[in-house]
Amino acid sequence: MPNDTGFVPCETRVDVVEAALAGLAASPKTLPAKLFYDDEGCRLFYKITTLPEYYLTRTETALLKSIAPSLVPAGLRDAVLIEFGGSDETKARVLLDLPERPFRTYVSIDVASPALLEMQARLSEAHPGLTVVPIVADFMQCLRLPPLGTPRMGFFPGSTIGNLDPDVAIRFLTTARTSLGAGSWFLLGADLRKSPDVLLPAYNDAAGVTAAFNLNLLRRLNREADADFDLGSFQHEAVWNDADSRIEMHLISTRDQIVHLTDRTFYFREGESIHTENSYKHTKERVLDIARCAGWEPHRVWTDHAGLFGVFLLQG
Ligand code: AVI
Repeated sequence: MPNDTGFVPCETRVDVVEAALAGLAASPKTLPAKLFYDDEGCRLFYKITTLPEYYLTRTETALLKSIAPSLVPAGLRDAVLIEFGGSDETKARVLLDLPERPFRTYVSIDVASPALLEMQARLSEAHPGLTVVPIVADFMQCLRLPPLGTPRMGFFPGSTIGNLDPDVAIRFLTTARTSLGAGSWFLLGADLRKSPDVLLPAYNDAAGVTAAFNLNLLRRLNREADADFDLGSFQHEAVWNDADSRIEMHLISTRDQIVHLTDRTFYFREGESIHTENSYKHTKERVLDIARCAGWEPHRVWTDHAGLFGVFLLQG
């Protein structure tokens, strides 16, 4: 139910059950990636970001730091920085810590409410002059922002854009442009298309953290959706789909089995998959096409030396 900010808080038990039932009734079976992020899922995802094979986070952070002074358009003062999906302020601090202090307000929209409140406490201590506004909501459901003033810059790092199918990415960027208002800026971080020799290990790490992250989804459904998945009978799989330019994560049933979720029964054959996530790896040009389709004008693009990751500054 929308609250007075126009955002729809999500992740109630009913949302989790409904999303899981819809996905498991589909053919082929799916589960939405947003369900990864319960407390344990957030902890495991943080661990993924520190793995040697998962180059994304360290590459983007290093790139942002190396270009920091150029990231804020000339003349931007007393601005509002709005991060979509940001319960960890590490990347935003590259912008907030700039010596010119271009931002007076930092808004972070995320479903993880304890993490948001911890972020607010940390940032308020580090930046006493900064107004920090945490909004507990699914940023995909963003309808309108509370009155925040202008100018505004949206911030969507971490390549979360890659977890959205291209039509959904366009819809999200269009909604974000409308919410932020005319004349706004948008800073987008996206992992880029590259050899599967680099991509596959990033989603199949040797320590098995990504496998634990994927399987934790089933543990969550057992706890929150009255399900009885046998975690030992599903296996993590990450594959490269070249035609769609994406890594796909699946949970593969290792035997014929029956699973209950609330009062519904689901049948799995040995080898059958639950598709849990897509992580698109677009070329730089494709990211710009998606941004243009959503009404944004490309202003500047940066990549790291190896061309692994891109940072895109867009104007609304
Ligand atoms: C959050 N997102 C950008 C991650 C990604 O790389 O697609 C989620 C993830 N899934 C497995 N490892 C990381």
